[in-house]
Amino acid sequence: MSLYSALARPVIFRFDPEQAHHASIRLCHDLAWAAPALAPFFSFRDRSLETEVCGLRFANPVGLAAGYDKSGEAVRMLAAFGFGHLEIGSVSAEASDGNPKPRLWRLPQDRATIVHYGLPNDGAQVVAERLKRVKLPVPLGINLVKTNHGIEAPASTDDEIIADYVRSARLLKDTGQYLSLNLSCPNTETGRDFFADKEPIVRCLQALSEVGIQCPVFLKVSPLGGIAAIERVLEAADGFDLVSGFIFNLAPVKPDTLSTPPPVWKNLPGAVSGPPCEPLMNACIKELYRRMDRDRYRIIGAGGVGSAEQAYEKIKLGASLVQLLTAMVYEGPGIVKRINRELARLLRADGFESVGEAVGCGNSA
Ligand SMILES: Cc1cc2nc3c(=O)[nH]c(=O)nc-3n(C[C@H](O)[C@H](O)[C@H](O)COP(=O)(O)O)c2cc1C
Repeated sequence: MSLYSALARPVIFRFDPEQAHHASIRLCHDLAWAAPALAPFFSFRDRSLETEVCGLRFANPVGLAAGYDKSGEAVRMLAAFGFGHLEIGSVSAEASDGNPKPRLWRLPQDRATIVHYGLPNDGAQVVAERLKRVKLPVPLGINLVKTNHGIEAPASTDDEIIADYVRSARLLKDTGQYLSLNLSCPNTETGRDFFADKEPIVRCLQALSEVGIQCPVFLKVSPLGGIAAIERVLEAADGFDLVSGFIFNLAPVKPDTLSTPPPVWKNLPGAVSGPPCEPLMNACIKELYRRMDRDRYRIIGAGGVGSAEQAYEKIKLGASLVQLLTAMVYEGPGIVKRINRELARLLRADGFESVGEAVGCGNSA
C-alpha cells in the first residue's frame, strides 16, 4: 500500500470530491516552486519508454488526461509527477461556470467517479495569458471545447458552436505542443450531440483549417455509436491534414460494468470514469486502429488506466500514448512512476526495445 493510499486518501476522501479537486489544484499551484526538487522522486526514465508521436518527443507514454487541470493552473507541479505529457482543459472561448453543483461523485467500490462538471474553465484568453511564459519539461496538450453557457441559455446555433472552437483555437494554437478538440460533449444546454453527424465535424475542421494551426490536432470523440460512428469520424477527418489522431471521451451513460449498487448512482447525471469505462474504451481503440490510416493517425488511449498492464493493453491494441486521471485520484501521483517502471519491465519481457514497437502488436486485423 502506498503512502498516499494509507495516509492521504482517507483524509482527502472525507471532503466533497469537487472541494478536494479544487484544493489539490490550489496546492499544486502554490507549491510550483518546489516542482524541480520533487521531480526526481516521481520520475522514472528508461530508454524503452521514450517515444516520438506526431513529431513530438515523449520521455514516456503515460500522460495526464484533460479535466484535472481545467485552466492550466497547476501544470508546473503536475509536470513533476513523472507524466510523459499533460493535457489541460477543456478550455472554451469564454469562461464558464459549468453545470450546477453537485457535479462530481466518487464510486470507491469501482475506484471510479461520476463526472457532470459541464466544462467549467477560465476561458481561452485567461488560459493563454496564464501559460504564455510557462516552459514545461514535457509536451503540453490543450483540449478545446465549446463554451457551456448554462442550462438557462438559449441553444447555440451551429455557426456559433463552430465559431467558439475557432476563437479558442486562435487564442491557444501556439500555447502548447498539441491541441485536442473535445467534440463529444459540447452541448450541455440541450443534450443535443452536435458532432454525432459527419457534416458538423467537417464544417468545424474546415473552419479550423483556416486558423493556421501548426501543431498536431487530436479529435476527442464519443465512444458510443460502434463501428459506424468510428467510420464516420474517420471519413470526416480524412480530408483534413491538420488531424493527427484520436482520443475517446467518456460516454454520457452508466456502463453495465459497475459493481456499485444502482441505488447509489441511478439518479446521478454524468459519465463514469475509471475502470468501469475501460472495456468500451479498449473496444473503440481496437476498432479504430483496425480502420484508420496508420501512417497518418495516432491514438491516445484513455479510460481506466491504473496499472502498467492496463496501459500496455491499450498500447497493444493500438494506442501510441495513454492517459489517466481517475487512478491518480485513488492512488496519488506516485502511480505514474509505478506504471512506467512496470511498463518498461513488461516491454523487456516481451522483447521490445521501445514502446513504439509494441503499438498495435496485439491487434491483428
Ligand atoms: C473529474 C473529471 C473531469 C473531466 N473533465 C474533462 C474535460 O473537461 N474534458 C475532457 O475532454 N475530458 C474530461 N474528462 C475525461 C478524461 O479526460 C478522461 O478521458 C477519462 O476520465 C478517462 O480516463 P480515466 O478513466 O483515467 O479517468 C474528465 C474526467 C474526470 C474524471
